[in-house]
Amino acid sequence: MSTGLRGQSIGVGLGRLDGVPKVRGTALYAYEQPVPQPAYLYPVQATIARGTVVRIDTGAAEALDGVLIVLTHLNAPRLVDTKDQELLVLQSAAVGFRGQFIGAVVAESSEIARHAAGLVEVAYAPAPHNSAFSVGEHGHISPGSAPGLPRQVSEAEIEAAIAGEHGHVSPGSAPGLPRQVSEAEIEAALAAASTAVDQTYTTPPEYNVPMEPHTSVAIWNDGILTMYESTQGVHSFQAGLAPLFGLEPEQVRVISPYVGGGFGSKIEVHAQAVLAAMAARELPGRAVKVALTRQQMFSLSGYRPPTIQHVRLGADLDGTLTAVAVDVVEQSSRMKEFTEGSDGPARMMYAAPQRRTTNRPVVLDVPVPTWMRAPGRCAGMFGLEVAMDELAVACAVDPIALRVRNEPPVDPETGQPHAFRHLLDCLQLGAERFDWEHRAAPAPRARLQHGWWSGMGVASATYPDFRVPDNAARIRFEADGTYVVQIAAAEIGTGSRTVLTQIAAEALGCPARCVRMEIGDSSLPRASVAGGSFGTISWGAAIVAAAEAFRDQHGADPRPGAETEAHAPGVIDDDRSRHSFGAHFAEVRVNAATGEIRVSRMLGVFSVGRIINPVTARSQFIGGMTMGIGMALHEHGVMDPRFGTIVNHDFADYHIPTCADIEDIDAIWLEEPEAPPGVLGARGLGEIGIVGAAAAIANAAYHATGVRARNLPLAPDAFLS
Ligand code: MOS
Repeated sequence: MSTGLRGQSIGVGLGRLDGVPKVRGTALYAYEQPVPQPAYLYPVQATIARGTVVRIDTGAAEALDGVLIVLTHLNAPRLVDTKDQELLVLQSAAVGFRGQFIGAVVAESSEIARHAAGLVEVAYAPAPHNSAFSVGEHGHISPGSAPGLPRQVSEAEIEAAIAGEHGHVSPGSAPGLPRQVSEAEIEAALAAASTAVDQTYTTPPEYNVPMEPHTSVAIWNDGILTMYESTQGVHSFQAGLAPLFGLEPEQVRVISPYVGGGFGSKIEVHAQAVLAAMAARELPGRAVKVALTRQQMFSLSGYRPPTIQHVRLGADLDGTLTAVAVDVVEQSSRMKEFTEGSDGPARMMYAAPQRRTTNRPVVLDVPVPTWMRAPGRCAGMFGLEVAMDELAVACAVDPIALRVRNEPPVDPETGQPHAFRHLLDCLQLGAERFDWEHRAAPAPRARLQHGWWSGMGVASATYPDFRVPDNAARIRFEADGTYVVQIAAAEIGTGSRTVLTQIAAEALGCPARCVRMEIGDSSLPRASVAGGSFGTISWGAAIVAAAEAFRDQHGADPRPGAETEAHAPGVIDDDRSRHSFGAHFAEVRVNAATGEIRVSRMLGVFSVGRIINPVTARSQFIGGMTMGIGMALHEHGVMDPRFGTIVNHDFADYHIPTCADIEDIDAIWLEEPEAPPGVLGARGLGEIGIVGAAAAIANAAYHATGVRARNLPLAPDAFLS
């Protein structure tokens, strides 16, 4: 690996600069930070899905040697800002979901804290709850609610929302642009279509499951709260936590140099951080540490809400779409409304004269969902891309030809021209590399070898080109010839420390080894989160701006101590539709006797602008695709609605792919000669790898077996007949 030559850092496959300290164990994560006088917090969790704590007896816990404090709603300090229900920890006796924090023990050791938490006795007045996410036979939301239970959104409310009065449904049209049609108009268009697909697809609750659990270490000193936190963004975390305690953001210092994955679950502040900060304030001079257990994470760190997607496509005989209708219901929680907006992809993927999409929350007594890799796009592309495969079969058109036929000349949602839509190039290159032409036969269930059916499938990928302008960076030249580059960016395992070093080296015109990045601390210049695939490009823009300002001020031969800080320029606003695209190709084999599905081969082809580092970029792509294999085949949070709990809340029962599940997997990308000037010509790539991956696998499973599976994960029993 080159360490980067002068002016040649971007595009080099520089190895991870923090790889060695991570492997050696010298990279310190939040829980491992050396702190004076650590104390250990273990939470007490509600064992009912809804109701009230009527008695909580902490006597036995408090009497235990080594216990410092036991907090409940009866003695916990009052929080100041009360907007976010998820964070109002121990503020009342109310229970809004099973697993909610109702108390906490802080002790001299984690073992004592955990033991003492088990000694807390709780009596409840349970209330009726509804934790069952389902639809009725016709794809409508199940009324399924006893009196007083979650209200459902009516058709009239949907129409009002489409008219733009309500935030729950995506209206889908800026003023003057093609409006979404009414349900009656869509039904008329579907009735007139030569070919129609009308199917319902479902995705289950899926969990972010980063390897490092959600972890907080809180210390109060002279009115300043210091948090060592596993977070995707120190400044957003600071902004989220400070108001709860009546603090200004700068009174909370957040330090997070290494994060063991987040996948969206560490974007928002979660309750364990509030609990740790609260307990630390009650214990002056002590550092209070909490790390959620894997089981606790399933109720306290968010998840991708399950979806039910009713997809209707109308087309001419040759597959040209005449109508696209997608109606999604997504689980949300009573405590805090959150939906992903999984109707999003249907609004901009393919051309169609008639279009209507809705996304409705179903509010249940369940843990609070949150962001998860490619929110909205990931789940939404499953239904849409399997439906497109069904349409291809119905019209006897090759699935790639079908997509060529429905390529929109402008963004169907906004009417804007595309800034860089290379979907067809991705499909074409992938088809060549994957040997698509030699798919055994267009007909399914054509190839059986050694007891395994095999087949190939394809699906499109997309992700928006987001970027955030509110970023700054500071550069200082040291006597030893090093440029110290400071920005409060996050390294969540993606390689950001490495690629930011490359960007800084390129912008400063020095070798990468002359740059030292300092990130992950709220005392550094302001940075947005590692999320939305916009981390590298948003932080990188600030670094490039700072490097240019530094050169202007200090020249190419600066004196030691020379320092400059600069802000990124504003967002690019070029009136074009800015989305990245890609294509997934999968070959699967399905065991004829057992229904076991294996992904024999998978190729992703992506168009994401300039690649800053081919090593970390490829890791992000195949990481997303691997997560897509998990989504396709394994991941399934199983809700027991009687108790409002996910029963398979550990890695034994909630399986994510291991090396044994992954066979031949690769990712390639397009060269984009017209990569926009912007700052770097790069776009995000952290999320697009999972979008459409599960659909490609489901489509391949259909081609292998002739069985169309519409519910994730694809269970072996679906393929046994
Ligand atoms: Mo991602 S869900 O924006 O971390």
